[in-house]
This record gives sequence, structure tokens and C-alpha cells, in this order.
Amino acid sequence: MGNRRATIAIVGMAPGANEERQQTPFVGRSGELLNRLLELAGLRRGSMFLTNTVHCRPKEGGRNRDPLPFELISCRPWLDTELRLLHPKVVVLMGKTAIPIGFPGMRPSDANGLVRATGERIYVSSYHPAYALRQPSFTKDIFAALRLAKELADDTD
Ligand code: URA
Repeated sequence: MGNRRATIAIVGMAPGANEERQQTPFVGRSGELLNRLLELAGLRRGSMFLTNTVHCRPKEGGRNRDPLPFELISCRPWLDTELRLLHPKVVVLMGKTAIPIGFPGMRPSDANGLVRATGERIYVSSYHPAYALRQPSFTKDIFAALRLAKELADDTD
């Protein structure tokens, strides 16, 4: 969801209860942290496109559980279509389900600070804001990833 002319897209994990209710990504507590970091990084949420690796809230089997592999695989065509139609220059991959899209086989700690350019787009790896809510020392890494995304998007204008 967001600006269809966005040069930066952010891919998170999955909608939580607030996101499901409002049908909008990142409107809960992690969204509040993300909003603050976007602002500090000089980015406007309204000029970006925000989406998730799965588009339905994973519910059965636990409150806000991680999406299962079959759920990630089933939803992947939606995400691929969004990114193909939107064609952002930079895609920020947040958290353990999004990072492997651009950094196959990597976990957030392996990929922290990494950038990978393909012919189509530039991937930036980031910890997930929900992780920084539990481990605040990782907030600076998310901020650094967002700054980097801004620089890369501005650079390739
Ligand atoms: N966490 C996510 O990964 N995505 C959301 O939309 C909200 C919380």
C-alpha cells in the first residue's frame, strides 16, 4: 500500500491485528517506530510503498506467529507482482522472512548493512522494527538501512 510512484518500497513480514483491522501495513507499534525512523532518515511515508511477505495475518497456532513456509510461497506471486508493477529503485527488506528475497539463505544478522543490486532493483537489508522494539540497540541499524536506501534512491534518480 502506498505511493504508486515510490522509488523506495519496504517489505515487512506480515500484517498484525491492527494492520488487519485497518487493511494497512505497519500501523501498529512497529509501524510507529518505523514512522519515527523514516522521519529521522528524511523519508516521507506517503512517498513510499509499504508491503509484506504475506498479505493475510498469520493467526492459527499463535498470536502473531511468523508466516509458515507454505504461506510465504503462496503469497510470493502477489509481492512479485506488486514490485514488478511498481518498479521501485530500492527495496528495503525488513526481517527474517523478507531478507531472503534479496539475500538468499541469509538471516538478519548475516545480512545487516548489506546491499545487492540486480538488473531490476537495489535490495537493502534491515532488521525488522518489531525486533528493535524488543532489542532497542538494533534501532540504529534500521535507521542506517533507511538512510542508505534514501541515498541510493536519490543517487540513481
Ligand atoms: N509487521 C510487519 O512486518 N508488517 C506490518 O505490516 C506490520 C507489522
